[in-house]
Amino acid sequence: MPEEVKVRIVNLPKIEDDRGNLSFIEEENHIPFKVKRVYWIYDVPGGEYRGSHAFKETAEFIVALSGSFDVVLHNGKEEMKYSMNRSYYGLYVPKQHFRRLENFSTNSLALILASTSYEEDEYIRDFQQFLSYIK
Ligand code: TYD
Repeated sequence: MPEEVKVRIVNLPKIEDDRGNLSFIEEENHIPFKVKRVYWIYDVPGGEYRGSHAFKETAEFIVALSGSFDVVLHNGKEEMKYSMNRSYYGLYVPKQHFRRLENFSTNSLALILASTSYEEDEYIRDFQQFLSYIK
């Protein structure tokens, strides 16, 4: 599967019936990578943010399972902001994008699927270093 290099909002399936809604994610279908890791962020205090780093090789897929938050992305040239507030939308974030999650609503739950296992060496936590890295 070719590596996708562009940020993209993915409209996930939403199966509605009288009993409620159901959505799902299939790897290598709705997301262009194999899932190596799943983590979630929750109980974020008001005004707090998460992230503020880029990954060298990791691609991610971010879903607001509950509540809302903003994802601010920088590709080295421009900043983009995505408001996540529906559990049937996912945000595909390719590798080498500086990203920050902010403006979390009460009880929000961010689900993140990642293409790699956790490795601290994958992180670029300094924005200037990020700019030099992607040049
Ligand atoms: P970090 O990715 O810096 O959090 P955020 O980007 O949301 O601000 O991770 C916070 C801590 O959790 C850090 O010490 C590393 C650890 N961690 C893992 O052990 N495994 C993981 O999969 C993740 C995402 C983090």
